[in-house]
Amino acid sequence: MLRRLHHEQPAAFEFTPANLAWAEAQITKYPVGRQASAIIPLLFRAQEQEGWLSKPAIEYVADMLGMPYIRALEVATFYFMFQLAPVGSVAHIQVCGTTSCMICGAEDLIRVCKEKIAPHAFELSKDGKFSWEEVECLGACANAPMAAIGKDYYEDLSEESLAKLIDTMAAGQTPRPGSQTGRFSSERAGEQVALLDSKGEREEFNATVGLAVAIGDTIKRIDGTEVALRAPWQMSGQRAPIGMMGTERPKSAVQQVAAEKAAKAATE
Ligand code: FES
Repeated sequence: MLRRLHHEQPAAFEFTPANLAWAEAQITKYPVGRQASAIIPLLFRAQEQEGWLSKPAIEYVADMLGMPYIRALEVATFYFMFQLAPVGSVAHIQVCGTTSCMICGAEDLIRVCKEKIAPHAFELSKDGKFSWEEVECLGACANAPMAAIGKDYYEDLSEESLAKLIDTMAAGQTPRPGSQTGRFSSERAGEQVALLDSKGEREEFNATVGLAVAIGDTIKRIDGTEVALRAPWQMSGQRAPIGMMGTERPKSAVQQVAAEKAAKAATE
């Protein structure tokens, strides 16, 4: 699927002071010369700040990481998690349209999106709260059809359950993610026929849904208030991880021998 930058772009982008401090701390997680590894978290935070990922934001992050713009653009245009156009202020609904989901009713879900949100993908609903798109397989094929909304998956969807989800979100609530037909995870639908010894010992939700319910940030934009900024390796008196900025990586036996030979040759 072709993913292009939006035809209208803001003039500039800058991280807020809180996001800048967070981003600078993330960069120090990586070894000297490997700061570009921080690109995905930084692009994602830029998107959370603005609601979508603009060209100035991509270039700002590339500058922070000392990367050519084309390398940052390659990452931003590759992953579906990056929104290259303005999306709904409440939620952007990504309906999987690949084989399992298509067989199980993805086209019905897309019809709901067209009727309740807007006739075309990436078109905002009249109130600006919602947008939608069709995406490729999101890896939840056993619970098809499904959609990714915000940071979580909604699975075992039907036309009715998706319409209800949209209404609930429009009313300011966050519906519980996961299977919408009551499946715990991706076990067979209906009565349990295997691992019967564990029957009745389950938690209320599987780990993913439990975490989503506990944090409640499925459709909330991350602003840094959720989890305190933590960069313990930067605290004085603590040993930095191997290869961290300013520290030297330990040498292998072969490198040690070569270094000793070089030192000896230099003194002769
Ligand atoms: S086919 Fe839809 S999640 Fe894989």
